[in-house]
Amino acid sequence: MLSTAMQAALLKQLNHEFFSSYVYLAMAAWCEDKGVRGFGRWMRIQAQEEMAHAMIIYRYLGDRDCRVILDTIQKPEADFGSIMEVFRAALEHERQVSRSFASIAALAQDERDFATGNFVQFFIDEQVEEEASFRDLIDQLKLVGDHGHAIFMLDREFGQRQFVLPAQLQNF
Ligand SMILES: [Fe+2]
Ligand SMILES: [Fe+2]
Repeated sequence: MLSTAMQAALLKQLNHEFFSSYVYLAMAAWCEDKGVRGFGRWMRIQAQEEMAHAMIIYRYLGDRDCRVILDTIQKPEADFGSIMEVFRAALEHERQVSRSFASIAALAQDERDFATGNFVQFFIDEQVEEEASFRDLIDQLKLVGDHGHAIFMLDREFGQRQFVLPAQLQNF
């Protein structure tokens, strides 16, 4: 059985993953409105990934006999000054998510809740990748600057992204 504190922490994280999905969907909508549809698609897939993260937590809570009670999802930021600003805000968002998973891992350690510690390890590893991929994208955007043709090419490349259902959600 999960402790009350752990149930609260995981339910809060579940809500935060839905919020992350909302954050990226708002970024997708901004990109699509600006005509950079490849970046828009990339962000929509990011939003799907965050939704999948939420469902991985949802599944784990059920497996640990904790009833899922959904909370209000915070309104995401909708206005950005540039594509660069979108990706910088995304990186900042991911850094915050990494900190919150670190505190869940610390709580699991304090409580000797090894199952949750093990469960959360996937997200700790995932966050390293998420932060690295956003930093990488920002570097690419820095390189192209505001050269229209290069942005056009990068937009086409970003538009190739495909959603992959995480293993934890197969047959769920
Ligand atoms: Fe996530
Ligand atoms: Fe994320």
